[in-house]
Amino acid sequence: MSNHQMIPFDGNGLHLSPAEMQAVMVQARKMMEMMVDYTDLRMVYGCALKIVRTKFEVLDSEFEVRNQRNPINFISSRVKSNQSIIGKMIRRRIPLTIENMEKEIQDIAGIRIICSYEDDIYHLADALLQQDNVTLLKRKDYIANPKPNGYRSLHLIVSVPVYFADQKRDVPVEVQIRTIAMDFWASLEHSMKYKQEIKDQDIVAARLKSCADRIAEVDKEMQDIRQQIDAGKDVPSDEDVLIQRLTKLDSIFDL
Ligand code: GTP
Ligand code: MG
Repeated sequence: MSNHQMIPFDGNGLHLSPAEMQAVMVQARKMMEMMVDYTDLRMVYGCALKIVRTKFEVLDSEFEVRNQRNPINFISSRVKSNQSIIGKMIRRRIPLTIENMEKEIQDIAGIRIICSYEDDIYHLADALLQQDNVTLLKRKDYIANPKPNGYRSLHLIVSVPVYFADQKRDVPVEVQIRTIAMDFWASLEHSMKYKQEIKDQDIVAARLKSCADRIAEVDKEMQDIRQQIDAGKDVPSDEDVLIQRLTKLDSIFDL
């Protein structure tokens, strides 16, 4: 098929010479190929997110059956917007090509796991990382080492294989694991960043930092209380466990 037939554009009225017309069509083809590749790539990141989400859902189900509570409150995920990707590449002075984007931007696929307790965060992270098809690329523990502004969360960049009909792709995914309280704080702090004019910015930042410190204390205290309650529970007999699990059988597989 010639380039002329490829696009419903005949150049009438533009007075292009055949050579110019040919050049325009070559460019158009390149651009269309790039668009198709890019759409493909976003689909690949979306699929990687499905895989990682399922891994966490599996861990949550298993934990529920064994411990009668869910470590995960909710999960959210997103493929980074085109605008944010380009903005990040410009900020980092990365030349704007699809290849560079794939290589350099590791948070195009992002998933956030919200837990009740801090110890669940590490339990889930360890359980994810010990899986043989999960490779850890980067780990930042902002819980052990909070940011100066008070931000706390555990960040992992992992690579997971995604299998398609004719190929396998290893895809990076950014995983943020945090408690409900940390998430509450991060949402407020994040929304502040996008407000153009904030009056008394220093005071607001100091109040946020103070909230972050108190939230950290509350997180610890809540975990302590839960651990104390857990420790005080009678160890159930094997029969009790069996009956409990039998009673739950009807509902646990409603995922
Ligand atoms: P980005 O360029 O923002 O992706 O940061 P980075 O590559 O240095 O990675 P980092 O692990 O520090 O942060 C990744 C993501 O964590 C950010 O995109 C935010 O979603 C979140 N995050 C990090 N720091 C803060 C913070 O101070 N406040 C809030 N609200 N979120 C943060
Ligand atoms: Mg980011």
